[in-house]
Amino acid sequence: MAVTERSGKAARGLKGGRPALGEAGLRDAGGRRRAPVLWAGLWAVAGLGAALGGYAFLYEPFDVRTERLAVRPLRDKAGVPGEGLNILHLSDTHFRGADRRERTKIEQVRRATAGEEIDLLVHTGDFLHNDSGLDNVLALIDSIPKPRLGAYAVTGNHDHVFYSMRRAPLYTWRLFRAREAENGASNGARSATEATEYSSAGLRDLFRFGRYLVSNRIDAEPTGVNDICRLRRALAERGMQFLDNRAVRLGETGVYLVGIEDLMEGEPDLQGSLAGVPQDAPTVLLSHNPDIIEAAAAARADLILAGHTHGGQIVLPLIGPTYTQTEQLSRGEASGYSRRGKTQVYVHRGLGEGVPVRFGAPPHVTFIRLLPARRDSAVGAGCDGNRG
Ligand SMILES: [Fe+2]
Repeated sequence: MAVTERSGKAARGLKGGRPALGEAGLRDAGGRRRAPVLWAGLWAVAGLGAALGGYAFLYEPFDVRTERLAVRPLRDKAGVPGEGLNILHLSDTHFRGADRRERTKIEQVRRATAGEEIDLLVHTGDFLHNDSGLDNVLALIDSIPKPRLGAYAVTGNHDHVFYSMRRAPLYTWRLFRAREAENGASNGARSATEATEYSSAGLRDLFRFGRYLVSNRIDAEPTGVNDICRLRRALAERGMQFLDNRAVRLGETGVYLVGIEDLMEGEPDLQGSLAGVPQDAPTVLLSHNPDIIEAAAAARADLILAGHTHGGQIVLPLIGPTYTQTEQLSRGEASGYSRRGKTQVYVHRGLGEGVPVRFGAPPHVTFIRLLPARRDSAVGAGCDGNRG
């Protein structure tokens, strides 16, 4: 109807005997001819936004992929069985008792793992988003075929505490200022307390804060604790043990599995956890946070399995993973396979999420076949695989 009215006015203008001016006036006056184009553009943008939002909220978080890769130690170490070990790696389930969403994921995992012969099941932490997710965590473990050599885990920061995102910007700013003050104090400027209390933010600080944020440091504020003892007990009843700063030898193999407490909320002791591991033993290290890679002792590990980053969760064209929560890895290393020297790292994108959206970083389960080192070439390609 609006178009018809405009047509009528246009017709009256033409009848007014000034066709040239009349036409020009109709195009410009009030943007009448441009308005439909403008509205169409706005609707298109809104529609695209709604479609992408719907995809990120309702589709991708449930699109559980299966990844497979084969990894060989890059050092000439004996102890991995000739046929290899089939490791199922899970991470970052973040269950909170959102039954419909979580049951859907559990069913996807059940299908992905059905019929698999699993030697070792590992979970690299953030089982819980909060305590109300425990029943679904147990249902997830129950849905997976029993591993031959055992099930092991490490805790993630979210297993210890829950966070508030509402005050994340202010909390991150305070952490940034405290860190800046510490750096200033360590440079002999003044005490950290003095610096925090008396220094004021200037443009330079804001610029540095911007860089701090861009390097993926957005911290939510811990606002309560989860019952981690209950989680440990319940999983122990399912046969899953936590490796808190300790190591185990996997059955009759020569492979050692080491676990370290969470870097943010736990009390990690990497040196202590490696103390009983022979230098020449193939070593797999479980750490929730992949930043462990920067610890000198981590170089002893042949393979580090980690989570925590969620693969950035939102991966944008040209920018890449947006929010990786790692200080030591580049955005390109925020998920999947990478290497530091002869230590190989696999970072899991997780099965769940705190903020329930994913874009370009679908959840997954990963089967890692740990194969014997190549005796003829200790260095070289350590990994073959595909992404789900
Ligand atoms: Fe997580």
